[in-house]
This record gives sequence, structure tokens and C-alpha cells, in this order.
Amino acid sequence: MTMRERIYINEVGLRDGLQNQPNPVSTQAKLEMAQALLDAGVEYLEAVAFVHPKAVPQMADAAEVLAGLAQIPLKKDVEISALVPNMRGYERARANGVNSVAVVVASTDTFNLRNLNMTTAKATDVCREVIQQARADGVKVRGYVSGALSCPYDGKTPVDVVHRMCAEMIEFGADEISIGDTIGAGNPQQINDILGPLVQQFGPERFNLHLHDTRGQALAMAWAGITQGVRRFDSSIGGLGGCPFAPGASGNVATEDLVYMLEEAGFDTGIDIAKLRVAVQAAERATGQALGGRILQWMKSQEIREQNKQNPCI
Ligand code: COA
Ligand code: ZN
Repeated sequence: MTMRERIYINEVGLRDGLQNQPNPVSTQAKLEMAQALLDAGVEYLEAVAFVHPKAVPQMADAAEVLAGLAQIPLKKDVEISALVPNMRGYERARANGVNSVAVVVASTDTFNLRNLNMTTAKATDVCREVIQQARADGVKVRGYVSGALSCPYDGKTPVDVVHRMCAEMIEFGADEISIGDTIGAGNPQQINDILGPLVQQFGPERFNLHLHDTRGQALAMAWAGITQGVRRFDSSIGGLGGCPFAPGASGNVATEDLVYMLEEAGFDTGIDIAKLRVAVQAAERATGQALGGRILQWMKSQEIREQNKQNPCI
């Protein structure tokens, strides 16, 4: 038997997925989502953000969420990460036992000012500071380039801007670079144009794609990433997601859609898609919304078939 190639899926539903929710989501509901995700085999969980609670009220219970996660018995190693916008966020994350952080810089001044109250130059300085501190502390650190395909305010992002930002973050010492289509406005050709030169210069290993499915292009873009050698992706259970500072942004690519495509294509995600159904349900309870990727109807039909097999009289 040939070994299936491994894909690393970072579940961001608890962070990106919930940060934009209009109704408060309880810590308990978040932990139920996390439990279901871990039961399904998720190994990378961006669980919280240590941002200003006024900027993103849904992340105000970050410390409580981490404390609750620490109580969940794990069957395998799980990496729990936190988004941190600045040194204050980094210090809060460290004080709460976090060993993996993500720092953000957007592609334009307009977006950085709305999101972080910083110019791009300032956000880049802060990013360098956080990355260097994380390196010194032995903390894994990822740089998010957000608005990498398009900025919600300034339109399509020039490819060379993204290349420069990625190179900078690598130079600062980031372990991983996440290229974010924050508003889901990109297309697969753009992914090729962005990744081609980066992969040539730096290799594909450290790049991650963070895709939103706003216009239904996320899976096609993920596949473009696969053909460029990328093996790391972010996704949200049920397709939850959206940035409060990016008008028009909707959900991340649904974890269940991504897992289905990749497993069918012969990759190993380490995730049991049937068990993701439970996680979608937990996310629906948490948000009071009907959720689910494009694959959900098919998953439901599979469940009915399974039930009928068990109860052949019905
Ligand atoms: N967590 C909690 N409090 C923080 C903080 C953090 N990460 N960073 C700063 N603060 C506090 C400061 O201590 C200060 O408190 P004080 O008034 O009691 O002294 C206050 O916030 C203002 O500090 P300042 O550095 O001027 O922050 P700001 O008001 O310019 O806000 C951010 C900057 C980055 C903290 C804020 O814009 C933010 O949290 N953005 C995140 C947005 C987000 O999550 N977007 C989606 C994901 S990309
Ligand atoms: Zn996002």
C-alpha cells in the first residue's frame, strides 16, 4: 500500500469562524465545538485571539476557552494556537500557556488601519517584534498576510506586494506564512501567480492557504495550491467565518468540503469526515445558524443510508 501524502488542516472556526457572530457565543458552546472537532481528528486548532475585547467581543473569553481546552482528554498531539495582533496580545497568549501564535499584517494601509489601528509600516514593525520574541521563546509563529488576493477597501492586491510581505515575514523568522483571501475574492490563477515564484524561492513547505468561500472559488483555489505543492490549509467547520473589519467577507472554506475533496483525491487529512457532522451541529447550536459546506446535503443522505442499513425494516 502506498502512503497517502499528508495534509495539515488548521481549523479556524473557533477564531475566524466566531469573531464575526452577531450573538454572543458562550465559552461552553465553543468548548463543545472544540470537543467535536478534536473527536473528528483535528490536530491544529486556532482556538482564540488575544485581541482587544472591544474590537472583537467574541474573543473576550480567550483565557477561559484555553483553560477549558486543557481539560479535554486528547487521543493525539494537538497544536492549539492563538491570533495575537501585537506584543500585548502575545504576552496574554504566553501567560495562558500558548506555544503557537499567529500575527497579522494586511496588504494595504486602509485595511491595517481598520483592523489593527496601525499603518502597514507600523503593523510590519509589530509583526517583526512578535515573530522575533516568539523565536526567542521557542514559540511557533505564523504570519498571516491578510487581504493577499484582494483588499476589502482597495481592490485587487498586486502580486509583488504579497511576495514582498511573505519574504519579509520569512526574514523575520516566521515558521509558517498564511496567504489569506480574507474576503474570498480571489481565483485559482491568482493563487498560481502568487505561489509560483514563492515556491521556487522558498519551497512549498512553509506556506498555508487561508481561503474564504464568499464567491464559491475556495476549493478551486485550494486545488491550485495543491498543484503548487502547498500542503497546509485553514478551514472552518460548517463554513463559519468572516472578518468584522472586512465588509462583505463571508465564511472560510468549510472544513468538511476541504476534507472531502482532499481525501477523495488521495491525500490523508487525519480527519474523519463523518464525525465532522457532529462538529457542524455543535457550531449550529453555538451560533443559532444553519451551517454546512456544499457537501453537507450529501453527508446527510449518507447518514440516512447508514441508519436504514441498521434498521432495514424502516
Ligand atoms: N489585548 C487586550 N488589550 C489590548 C491589546 C490586546 N492585544 N492591545 C492593546 N490593548 C489595550 C492596551 O493595553 C490599552 O489599554 P489601556 O487603555 O487600558 O491602557 C488599550 O488597549 C489601547 O492600546 P493601543 O495599543 O492604543 O490599542 P488600539 O486601541 O490602537 O488597538 C489593537 C489596537 C490591535 C489592540 C486592536 O485594534 C485589536 O485588537 N484589533 C484586532 C482586530 C481583529 O481581531 N481582527 C480580526 C482578526 S485579523
Ligand atoms: Zn479569514
